[in-house]
Amino acid sequence: MNAQTLATYGFALVLPLLYLTYRLHFSKPKQAPAPTESHTKPLKPIMQAPNADLLPPKNDPYTVDELAKYDGSDSSKPILVAIKGDIFDVTKKSDVYGPGRSYHIFAGKDGSRGLGMSSLKTEHAVSDYTTLTESEMKVLDEWHSFFSKRYNIVGKVVGSSPAANM
Ligand code: HEM
Repeated sequence: MNAQTLATYGFALVLPLLYLTYRLHFSKPKQAPAPTESHTKPLKPIMQAPNADLLPPKNDPYTVDELAKYDGSDSSKPILVAIKGDIFDVTKKSDVYGPGRSYHIFAGKDGSRGLGMSSLKTEHAVSDYTTLTESEMKVLDEWHSFFSKRYNIVGKVVGSSPAANM
């Protein structure tokens, strides 16, 4: 086998291997896996390092009706998710919060109760978290901390107490 043949076979073997390695490590799934009822906490621990690009939290008031306009159905608007009244801009994760995506249920609203319960049921995605057990409350607080480290706070939900908007 001469040097040229060796080089040709070498390339033929190495290139597909390189491609597979690249696909395994760097390709991103287009959509989060269809969730069921099992991951009960934020995927990353609360010790997660804060996103260095976060802006100072804003206090802009949003009514429940205003917030509903930011559920991703209008692609010219940001996608917002509220937790315990704080509104996070999750537009950069439109692949999971946009229409038809795994966590769209939480877009354009405060779905604190559902987050605390680890539930993706529409009827649970409401702001009233006063019904949560102590351990569910802990889960909700972990979600709040997870979002705080990842997304900008752009405002607060006004005109409803935690128990009012069901
Ligand atoms: C077998 C069940 C589940 C699986 C395999 C799963 C998988 C995932 C994955 C892979 C992500 C990361 C998505 C990404 O960053 O692209 C994620 C994030 C998330 N999951 Fe789940 N999930 C499941 C169940 C649930 C349930 C029941 C809830 C209800 C509270 C939930 C709420 C969330 C939320 C809020 C995020 C954060 C998305 C973000 O802002 O990055 N998941 N999940």
